[in-house]
Amino acid sequence: MTEQQFIPQAYSNKVSQGTVSWESPSNIALIKYWGKKKDQIPENPSISFTLNACKTTTVLSYTKKEETSDFDFEVYLDGKHKPDFQPKIKTFFERVLVYLPFLKEFTFKIETSNTFPHSSGIASSASGMSALALCLMSLENQLQPEMTSEFFNQKASFLARLGSGSACRSIEGDLIVWGANTTVKGSSDLFGVKYTYAVHENFKSYQDTILLVDKGEKQVSSTVGHNLMHGHPFAAQRFAQAHDNLAALKPILESGDLEAFIALIESEALTLHAMMMTSMPYFILMKPNTLEVINKIWAFRKETGLHVGFTLDAGANVHVLYPKAEAEPILEFVKSELAVHCQNGQFICDEIGFGAKALINNK
Ligand code: PMV
Repeated sequence: MTEQQFIPQAYSNKVSQGTVSWESPSNIALIKYWGKKKDQIPENPSISFTLNACKTTTVLSYTKKEETSDFDFEVYLDGKHKPDFQPKIKTFFERVLVYLPFLKEFTFKIETSNTFPHSSGIASSASGMSALALCLMSLENQLQPEMTSEFFNQKASFLARLGSGSACRSIEGDLIVWGANTTVKGSSDLFGVKYTYAVHENFKSYQDTILLVDKGEKQVSSTVGHNLMHGHPFAAQRFAQAHDNLAALKPILESGDLEAFIALIESEALTLHAMMMTSMPYFILMKPNTLEVINKIWAFRKETGLHVGFTLDAGANVHVLYPKAEAEPILEFVKSELAVHCQNGQFICDEIGFGAKALINNK
C-alpha cells in the first residue's frame, strides 16, 4: 500500500445530509513509538494493547453546501461549543483533504465526549482522532458504497495517523502493530495492522489499571518530544532496539512467559523516559509519586510472585498491567498501597478491548 491508494476515484453516490457516530478507544503501547518523520511516519515500529473503557464517542452531522468554499465546521465537547479545538481539526482537515476531497463540500458539526475525565492526564488524541477518522470514513463509504471493510479500517487508521500518530492503533484490537518491520508480515508505516500471530491465554483480557499520578497539562507536547529524537545521540540505537524488542516479544506472546513480558515492557517504558532525559533540551516527566509506585510494584512482585508490571506514556501516570487471573489480589494492592500516590486517590480500571464500534452508520 502507498499513500496514492487512499486517494479516491470519483465517487459513485451522492449524499445531501446525515449523521454518523463512532466510539473509539484509547490504546497503550508496549513497545513505544517515539520519534517521527514528516506526517507521523514513525522512526520505529510499535505495538499496543487496544483499551476498552477509556474511549471517545463522536457524532458527525453533515449537510451538503451550495458552494465549495473553505472548511466549514464546529466542534462541541460534552455539549459545549469549543472554538479552541478548531485549529487542531483544521490542520487535520488540511492534511487529509487530498484523501477526502469532499471535506470542503459539507458543513460539519462534530460532537465529542470522553469516558475519562478531561483533565486526567490521559491523552484523548488517540481515541478522539480515531473516532473522527472513522466518522469521516462512514461518510466516504456512503459516497462510495463498494468499499471493502478491510479498506475502510485501513484508511481509517491511515487518516487517524495523520491526526495523531498513535491514534492509528485504536481502530481495531486487541494487539496492533504500527511501523514497517520484518517480524510482522504486512506491517506498514502508514497504518496499524492487527497482530495475527499466536497469543497465549495469559494475555487475553489483560488488565490495565491507570493510576492518575499527575492530572496536569503535559510539560512537553508529544510533537515537541518526537522532534527531540532528531539528532538525539542515542536515536539510532533506540530505533534498532525497538525492532529487536518486537522480534523478542513474538515468542513471549506465544509462550505466555509473563516474567519475560514484564521485563520487556518495563524496559521499554523506562527507555522512553531515558530518551527524554537525554535529549536537548531534557525533560523529567516522572513525578516523585511515579517512582514511589514503581518501587512498590517491584517490592510487591518480589514478595508475592504475582505478575504485576507497569508501563508509562510520555507523562507521570502509571499503567499497571497484569493478567486477569491475578486481578483480585493485585487490585487489592492497588487500592491499599498505590491509590495514595494518585491525585485525589483516582485510578481507572481498564482492560484489553477489541476496537472501535459504529453507533450510527447509515451505509
Ligand atoms: O501519538 P502521539 O504523537 O501522541 O505519541 C504517543 C507516544 C507515546 O504515547 C509516548 C508512545 C506510544 O507509542 O503511544
